[in-house]
Amino acid sequence: QEDVFKKIVSHCKEYGFVFPSSEIYDGLAAVYDYGQNGVELKNNIKQYWWKSMVLLHDNIVGIDSAIFMHPTIWKASGHVDAFNDPLIDNRDSKKRYRADVLIEDQIAKYDEKIEKEIAKARKRFGESFDEAQFRATNARVIEHQQKRDALHARYTEAMQGPDLAELKQIIIDEEIVDPISGTKNWTDVRQFNLMFSTEMGSVADGSNKVYLRPETAQGIFVNYLNVQKTGRMKIPFGIAQIGKAFRNEIVARQFIFRMREFEQMEMQFFVQPGTELEYFQKWKELRMKWHQALGFGAENYRFHDHEKLAHYANAATDIEFHMPFGFKEVEGIHSRTNFDLSQHEKFSGRSIKYFDPQTKESYTPYVIETSIGVDRMFLSVMCHSYKEEQLENGETRVVLMLPPALAPTKLAVLPLVKKDGLPEKAREIVNNLKFHFNTSYDEKDTIGKRYRRQDAVGTPFCVTVDYDTLQDNTVTLRFRDTMEQERVSIDQLLSIIEDKVSI
Ligand code: GAP
Repeated sequence: QEDVFKKIVSHCKEYGFVFPSSEIYDGLAAVYDYGQNGVELKNNIKQYWWKSMVLLHDNIVGIDSAIFMHPTIWKASGHVDAFNDPLIDNRDSKKRYRADVLIEDQIAKYDEKIEKEIAKARKRFGESFDEAQFRATNARVIEHQQKRDALHARYTEAMQGPDLAELKQIIIDEEIVDPISGTKNWTDVRQFNLMFSTEMGSVADGSNKVYLRPETAQGIFVNYLNVQKTGRMKIPFGIAQIGKAFRNEIVARQFIFRMREFEQMEMQFFVQPGTELEYFQKWKELRMKWHQALGFGAENYRFHDHEKLAHYANAATDIEFHMPFGFKEVEGIHSRTNFDLSQHEKFSGRSIKYFDPQTKESYTPYVIETSIGVDRMFLSVMCHSYKEEQLENGETRVVLMLPPALAPTKLAVLPLVKKDGLPEKAREIVNNLKFHFNTSYDEKDTIGKRYRRQDAVGTPFCVTVDYDTLQDNTVTLRFRDTMEQERVSIDQLLSIIEDKVSI
């Protein structure tokens, strides 16, 4: 699985999907650039989300708020005081780590030990192996499981604060060593704020400090009354936004899964107090349906309901997707109560209450939030679509089985040879179809090589223009996933393809 992931990362680079940022300067940690195919796929993902939120719901509208916001907003939201990671340094390697991640890795090590014992036993007993019974009776497995559960309980308790001294004590008691120096020479655990800051204007005394937003949500909260009034919105209603967010993540791992500059697609849904849990449930279901509509298989998704909640939330869940490195969070759905709006009322001194025209009452709405990372969604789409197929002739083909609606290029038009009027005919087809969907032209190399190249970037349809085309206006249409070919008339191409690639 790890090997597959490595292949996906290099495929992303080789085929112009994702490049390490500033690569000719050896890159910049946890920052990535999207290439010519990546940007198309990413735009399609955003459009797929925007359409399902804004175009298909008549009570949801979109905005695009600025990345820079008044610094007091981050005081009010709690980010200045509480958006922290607990960090610990190793004195020998001089490396800095997230204490919580070191402990989570340790928990994962116990899981690995258990899995190893099970794999060994399965090999030994073959068909007759009963995993549940083995887990319940094998002394080594029981011991690992008990240690794992005790550590997990202690860690969960320590993170509810978080208790920094206890986090350090866990690292010491578990004898966790630095992966680089191999030593246990740890400093105390300290809180480290994840927000990037910079200065606005020319005063250099720190009074003009501004932050790069760590979430897009606050731009929606501070605009909610502007939108409600100018759009004559009635509760319940939602505001959606897509935009960049920035977090100074210390542990940068797994490619574009955790980045320092990333993009979010967030929707805040404003409801009457007391109805929020009903809407929380509704959005949970709707969002899961949205994910599953891509056809990646229901078994690859799961909810992870949060047992312990942030002080402002009264329900929260994650939608996790089965990545090559395990089930991982792609989207969060949170019932945020009226915390953010009340805080902004308090800090700004302005009333931002909603006036209900029916009951003639004013109140601060409650909020259900759905928040998904564009880049994580991109990664899940890539991971699921990447396939290596063994062909009948013994060759392997690498194909991205992207949902056609998300594919960067929908159709590639290929003249069989570079002469006798075939390129001109092929270009004519491209010129007619490019206004309807993304169509490309390719004349280099053999047809077989061109098909492989299109498979590798996920183009769902190719047409080949040959000598017969000049006679009867038909082309060979080839389907990416089945590699089947069909002779169709050029006039039919638009209707055959458009229906399958529209978002
Ligand atoms: N407004 C709520 C909020 O920001 P979050 O769980 O911190 O909640 C929401 O983030 C989503 O944003 C996550 O589910 C993930 O998809 C994405 N995300 C968060 N941090 C990220 C990072 N460092 N890199 C890439 N995506 C990230």
